[in-house]
Amino acid sequence: MAFPKMTDLELRGKTVVIREDLNVPIKDGKITNDKRIRAALPTIQYALDKGAGVIVLSHLGRPKEGEFTPETSLAPVAARLSECLGRRVLLSKDFEEARAVRPGGVVVFENVRCLKGEKANDPELAQKLAGLGDIYVMDAFATAHRAQASTEGAIRAAKEACAGLLLTAELEAFAKVLDNPQHPVVAVIGGSKVSTKLELLNNLLDKVDKLIVGGGISNTMIAARGFGVGTSLYEPDLVEASKGILAKAEALGKEIPQVIDVVVADALQEGAEATVCMADAVPADKMILDIGPKTRELYDRVLKEAKTIVWNGPVGVFEIKPFGEGTKAIAQSMADSDAFVVVGGGDSISAVEGYGLADKMDYISTGGGAFLELFEGKKLPAVAALEARCAN
Ligand code: 3PG
Repeated sequence: MAFPKMTDLELRGKTVVIREDLNVPIKDGKITNDKRIRAALPTIQYALDKGAGVIVLSHLGRPKEGEFTPETSLAPVAARLSECLGRRVLLSKDFEEARAVRPGGVVVFENVRCLKGEKANDPELAQKLAGLGDIYVMDAFATAHRAQASTEGAIRAAKEACAGLLLTAELEAFAKVLDNPQHPVVAVIGGSKVSTKLELLNNLLDKVDKLIVGGGISNTMIAARGFGVGTSLYEPDLVEASKGILAKAEALGKEIPQVIDVVVADALQEGAEATVCMADAVPADKMILDIGPKTRELYDRVLKEAKTIVWNGPVGVFEIKPFGEGTKAIAQSMADSDAFVVVGGGDSISAVEGYGLADKMDYISTGGGAFLELFEGKKLPAVAALEARCAN
């Protein structure tokens, strides 16, 4: 995987257009989590330090194309970026005004998804965006799975294009896990539905030595093993597919450690009375909401033996007490293990941050959908476009 990198280019006196993913949660005009802005800072700062003028592009949400509204404006993002950089940041939706940026200056161009043609990857818009500057820097890993004008088209259209520091770091962390990992490799995949992660689970089995499944996915696997799951969230339609995953694991000699015991309750409610039962004896009127202590011990052993770990999705309803013990335990096991640990997905990241364990993980990805697509074995369109520039 070879692609041009920002650190290899001469930036002095140039205008650098940086596509970031600053799609942050905003409530009542206030940013509730600025992680993606902080993750973008090194790339922006690097360009400024090297003497470039910077135009930052990003989307925010999924607005209607063709109109700019206050609700979909990047104004709060530009304000936060200005605070973080300690310098003035101009917000503009005017191509001419943005293009006039001087070395050392920073312009945030308004929400690219408000521009007609962004979603359809319109070549004319791609050309216009690329033409804002001399060098087009793709740094938006979390949007690299979208083939849109600002994420893919502009890379192909630009005179010069490269990956920014964040995208480079993300791809290098993933290469360490996907291309040449140290074994044993363990993946922990949680979340509510097998249906959204079926391709991922199938593809991961080819790559990992052990696969731990959690949440609703684990419930469907329990059903696939022929046990009742009471009133738990599970997908009856996916029981056959889950049997297929179990059979594939066996055929490949891969291990899916079986959940031994589970935490159950009458309902998903804060403070609900939680009891532990064996996974093959879930009462008909109870729902599974977390893994039990014996399973936590089993997973702890598996994770501590691992040399490489990838984690996406909690193993229980971690945000509601008292069903977070399983997720907390696996986060702690990862923190204590010597493995190279990559964490992705909003819930897993909130969990490790909430438990104060983020510093103990080797890499925390900014990607959700992009993270999953990479592990599904797909080529991200923006990365393919960058690689094509090296091939030319
Ligand atoms: C995300 O939040 O996952 C990225 O910003 C991509 O957003 P999208 O799913 O609207 O393309």
